[in-house]
Amino acid sequence: MTSETRSSGCGSDIRQLTVRGLCHDIAGKRVLENIDLSLQSQGVTAIMGANGAGKSILIRILHGLLRPSGGTVSWGGRAMTRDMLRSQAFVPQSPVLLRRSVAANLKFALTLRRRRDISTRLDALLALADLADKADQPARTLSGGEQQRLALARALATDPKVLFLDEVTASLDPANTLAIETVIRRVSDDGTRVLLVSHDLGQGKRVADDVVFLHRGRLAEHSPAKTFFSQPVSAEARGYCEGRIVL
Ligand SMILES: Nc1ncnc2c1ncn2[C@@H]1O[C@H](COP(=O)(O)OP(=O)(O)O)[C@@H](O)[C@H]1O
Ligand SMILES: [Mg+2]
Repeated sequence: MTSETRSSGCGSDIRQLTVRGLCHDIAGKRVLENIDLSLQSQGVTAIMGANGAGKSILIRILHGLLRPSGGTVSWGGRAMTRDMLRSQAFVPQSPVLLRRSVAANLKFALTLRRRRDISTRLDALLALADLADKADQPARTLSGGEQQRLALARALATDPKVLFLDEVTASLDPANTLAIETVIRRVSDDGTRVLLVSHDLGQGKRVADDVVFLHRGRLAEHSPAKTFFSQPVSAEARGYCEGRIVL
């Protein structure tokens, strides 16, 4: 991780998020309702909630992939710019890999940032994803877990200041889930801001510093992970943590 990534800049850290009055409608239906949220510039935030709660729509708006119907999103106090967008990376649940080798997928991402130390960085990313022995294998022939590890390494090749992960371990076995969670904690410790959508309580407990809990498009609760999982404040989060079906 570069010192630039760690640095908070002069007063406006573009890893710090402020959301005010965020609303979103799809086909006349309100899917996000009046969300206010402030996130510190450090750490791993888990965005949790039942299917359909609005988690994916929310992070797509935060990353600038969707324009909200109302409200504001600012990073470091400013609206998203093209440069800011380039300093963020997004990994979806089913990433699309290039029809090339594992190494070529990573090289492509490294050249996007015009890095000079490509071969050193390539080796480091292959090691991070535990894919050094598969560098020449066509990426699309990797197992699901390997593909997801590659997608994460490819996102990290761009040295993001903010990393969005949308249910990236949802279909993976425990070993691959753990491998990805280890990388998430490591990049967070190195200064990358991580926003992780997950409906896996165990994952939230293992990796999150704080939890944003959505219920039917509303922010039901935003709490430190320690208190969220032991003493959730909202009735919706309490039901969710106790394994009750909360509709
Ligand atoms: N393209 C779409 N067309 C219509 N409704 C959508 C579309 N995308 C999302 N929605 C609706 O918006 C709500 C929130 O979706 P989403 O953010 O994907 O939920 P989550 O990620 O929490 O499971 C859901 O009710 C979903 O049906
Ligand atoms: Mg989703």
